[in-house]
Amino acid sequence: MSLNLDHIRPLFPALDVHDHGRRRTYLDNPAGTQVPRQVIDRMLHALVHCNANMGGNFTTTREATALVDSAHAAMADFYNANSAREIVFGPNSTSLAFVITRAIAHLFNEGDEIIVTRMEHDANASPWRILAEERGLVLKRLDFDRANYQLNVEQLDELITDRTRFAAINYASNLLGTINDVKGICSRIRAAGGLTYIDAVQYAPHGPIDVQELGCDFLVSSAYKFYGPHQGVLWAREELLEKLHPYKLRVSSNDLPGRFETGTQSLEGQAGTLGAVDYLEWVGQTMGTEFKIANRSHTERTSNVHAGLRAMASYEETLSTRLIEGLVGFDDVIVHGITDPAQFAKRVPTVSISKPGMRPADMATALDDKGIFVWDGHSYALDVVEWLGLADKGGVVRFGPTHYNTIEEIDFTLEVVADFLRRS
Ligand SMILES: Cc1ncc(COP(=O)(O)O)c(C=O)c1O
Repeated sequence: MSLNLDHIRPLFPALDVHDHGRRRTYLDNPAGTQVPRQVIDRMLHALVHCNANMGGNFTTTREATALVDSAHAAMADFYNANSAREIVFGPNSTSLAFVITRAIAHLFNEGDEIIVTRMEHDANASPWRILAEERGLVLKRLDFDRANYQLNVEQLDELITDRTRFAAINYASNLLGTINDVKGICSRIRAAGGLTYIDAVQYAPHGPIDVQELGCDFLVSSAYKFYGPHQGVLWAREELLEKLHPYKLRVSSNDLPGRFETGTQSLEGQAGTLGAVDYLEWVGQTMGTEFKIANRSHTERTSNVHAGLRAMASYEETLSTRLIEGLVGFDDVIVHGITDPAQFAKRVPTVSISKPGMRPADMATALDDKGIFVWDGHSYALDVVEWLGLADKGGVVRFGPTHYNTIEEIDFTLEVVADFLRRS
């Protein structure tokens, strides 16, 4: 374990906020993380020093344009994209998926088939369902196994046909925590002539992303899940972006990626995203040396960011091991995800539980009484809770530690859960 929390935690001002004299315990990270100084400073700088629209002929607009270019370049390194022209910013991942449904529609004909897994956040399901309805496409579902919480990849043999044109796959589930074999699935869809759209929103804070290595066609994540501000960031292959139809104003850019970035973009959001990449790079440089992996296709920044994310993931495994061990020990509590420590490389630390007869909202409220923040419900993974038979039972309670949480916070959470279960 090489992460030094004494250096990390003071960088996050929110970790020091107290309510009624009690420090907050943030375990709601799968829904959104807190931000470090690097992000706040970049956003503050943007709003104070270069708060102008892009492309003009005066000082602030020139600085704003340079900042936005730097943010695109940083995210190109984050994803190991071929160029910053492949990086499209948008308000969030959901909006970006809808942008692509419009832009891609002309590539499909009635009767073409698309595959969407049953493990998706609705942001990677409904846009494609709506597209299928509009274009007369056949929507097929790839199930996950309710015994081991992993996608039924063998089912792909039945689903893939010569009409398969597209598949939407999540990198990691925001409810089960499962990390999927995205590379393997992409290669099978590609062999059948289809395109792949990867939702990496939940994976991005917990591991390095390399779009070249994955062999996908689109990939999206949201900076607010990896310590940045509310901002979505899409990657797509340049030659594919060239083929898509942008829904744009006559007056806006015809270049890449500008033609997919409709309207005035969030300068402060892009500045903060750059700050999040700065932060991950710093973690890699200062605490990730042992996690560096030589790869000639990576820039120095990609290599540092990826090392930082690996260092974080390694530490997070100690938190999820303690959390899961504790939760499986409670009578009748079901952990909906991988619980075997030998398989933890296949999961992120997002851990959901239910208990027959228990209202998840009651447990979340009891935890909040002690300053511990967790989500209850379906967390927009509607298909997942339906498939698990929990949709009419209030869904799950979801615990999501991340690299700034401590083992003491996990132990305290387990104590509060134990107390709640004893009383209910
Ligand atoms: C796996 C996953 N996909 C998509 C989204 C939606 O992201 P956004 O809020 O940026 O639209 C989320 C948000 O929680 C998510 O966890």
